[in-house]
Amino acid sequence: MLLSKFVKKYFYKKSNPTRNISRTEIINYLIKTKSYKKYLEIGVRNPKINFDKIKINYKDGVDPNWNGTTWKSWVKLRCSRSDLNMFVIDTDEGCGIIYYESQNIWLKDPISSCINYSYLDKNRKKLLNLISINDFFSKIK
Ligand SMILES: C[S@@+](CC[C@H](N)C(=O)[O-])C[C@H]1O[C@@H](n2cnc3c(N)ncnc32)[C@H](O)[C@@H]1O
Repeated sequence: MLLSKFVKKYFYKKSNPTRNISRTEIINYLIKTKSYKKYLEIGVRNPKINFDKIKINYKDGVDPNWNGTTWKSWVKLRCSRSDLNMFVIDTDEGCGIIYYESQNIWLKDPISSCINYSYLDKNRKKLLNLISINDFFSKIK
């Protein structure tokens, strides 16, 4: 893509925080800005919705068709892994980003309490480390 087109496309997104940006756009943005070469999607369901639209040379996906409770795994990592940086972009159905770095882990209560949905609901912003789409674009450049 020409640089001017790219700037136009992402400048438009940055200046329109109310637009609901999809997980597909976030993934493609990360691939582009970080020059990622491979993509693995755990839990594909219908490939037409996201997987097929990911623009990268090498990609693969699996789906054992489970009914997942992904947020519980998220909370467990937020409570235990100080070697990760984790945040959720408040768009689409919530787009979680995890990479090796560091974070202040959540130590307020035992993990067994934190993985109750009512607990998540009460502490959603901090436990998920919820950020706006504009904060995401400022963070990842
Ligand atoms: C909300 S759908 C997301 C589908 C797709 N990634 C997308 O963005 O459109 C979640 C999918 O993840 C799968 N899933 C849930 N838990 C999983 C796990 N532990 N391992 C692999 N797949 C899982 C489910 O079967 C479901 O099809």
